[in-house]
Amino acid sequence: MNIPENTVGDLNSYWMPFTANRQFKSNPRLIVGADGMYFKTADGRDVLDGIAGLWCCNAGHNRPKIVEAIQKQASELDYSPAFQMGHPKQFELAERLANLMPGDLNKIFFTNSGSESVETALKMAIAYHRARGEGHRTRLIGREKGYHGVNFGGMSVGGMSPNRKMFGTLVSGVDHLRHTHGIEENRFSKGQPEHGVELADDLIRMIELHDASTIAAVIVEPLAGSAGVILPPKGYLQRLRKICDQHGILLIFDEVITGFGRLGAPFATNYFDVEPDLVTTAKGLANGVIPMGAVFAQDKIYDAFMTGPENMVEFFHGYTFSGNPMACAAAMGTLDTYEEEGLLTRARPDSDLCQYWQDAVHALKGLPNVIDLRNMGFIAGIELSSREGKVGARAFDAFLQAYDAGLLIRTTGDTIALSPPLIIEKSHIDFAFDTLTKILKNLE
Ligand SMILES: Cc1ncc(COP(=O)(O)O)c(C=O)c1O
Repeated sequence: MNIPENTVGDLNSYWMPFTANRQFKSNPRLIVGADGMYFKTADGRDVLDGIAGLWCCNAGHNRPKIVEAIQKQASELDYSPAFQMGHPKQFELAERLANLMPGDLNKIFFTNSGSESVETALKMAIAYHRARGEGHRTRLIGREKGYHGVNFGGMSVGGMSPNRKMFGTLVSGVDHLRHTHGIEENRFSKGQPEHGVELADDLIRMIELHDASTIAAVIVEPLAGSAGVILPPKGYLQRLRKICDQHGILLIFDEVITGFGRLGAPFATNYFDVEPDLVTTAKGLANGVIPMGAVFAQDKIYDAFMTGPENMVEFFHGYTFSGNPMACAAAMGTLDTYEEEGLLTRARPDSDLCQYWQDAVHALKGLPNVIDLRNMGFIAGIELSSREGKVGARAFDAFLQAYDAGLLIRTTGDTIALSPPLIIEKSHIDFAFDTLTKILKNLE
């Protein structure tokens, strides 16, 4: 690749996250600009963003309201201390967010990433039970193939072995439900699959094993993205909610990718009509422009902490950059954009565009190596069979070829994931799937 002068220095100093560093540095893929649905590469090509950055730029790139909000904020108030001090935008943004979320999820705690939102929610869950005199509820239940970020708590409740195996014994007192992937009858389902609701009963097995009185919370992604687009079987999330209610266990939805319109509703909580006790978000909250996350807590959780002397800190947790003014401004500009353009409901399943997306996804059926296709909202999972002894190699080749052909996709193992900005139009869908079709036809 031709790297224009002054674009990049020595490639060796930067240790890139979740990246094949040696492969990248031998043939770098550098992005130098972005606008709307497209990235601009260092060698001057437009690349269609098929994954909204990393499932975060839901309003697309270079959006005027967001740019303006950040510019204005930088000259007005760059930083205000996060502890024992506040600034107006934190309160305004929290109120707007609470209004977007259904039910009692009205208390908002700001973080800087999905990983931090997860740590925050797990700590809230354990501390909540303690505040109510049930300090024996400390156990956390996650799910196999779950992804909840990379910090110790999230990694421990997470269930992706490559993310766990290098890091010792992790946090203790964690157990995992089985995942819902790979059910033969669910292959090539359009939208939510029919089979697998009974897998929610794994929670009953955990309760029998550990006793409900030791369990603080269950955390799941309503739809798992990072492990390769795993959809919840019909009734599964409802059943989890019911079991949690019966046993005093908190339910946490990790909505870091499903939040902010990905499924055609503001949150998966709206979409599936299941109200968890805590919801973790990040990514689309500030359109990926400035790092920001938020945990939504039910009023009852906040209220449980509001005891003791009024001059005492109630929850010993927070980040220097919680509710940072720049991030709040970016989030406000983001919410304005979502609202003005109706983006949070653009991927509604009954919309013409979402149908078009679904048809485009399932038109890949029958291409070589395609063993499953999954879709919901503006999400697609295209699962390929693996090469003998080389899991992930086939999809990675597809990723490289797609990038060369002007399309950015993401892969996990041998599953290709698509999650484009919600401003996508039919012409972009056509380009993305035509490109993939050509690649898959010839991919070894
Ligand atoms: C469901 C889920 N939780 C948490 C995270 C971690 O977010 P971050 O990378 O912002 O820490 C991700 C990131 O992809 C995610 O998909």
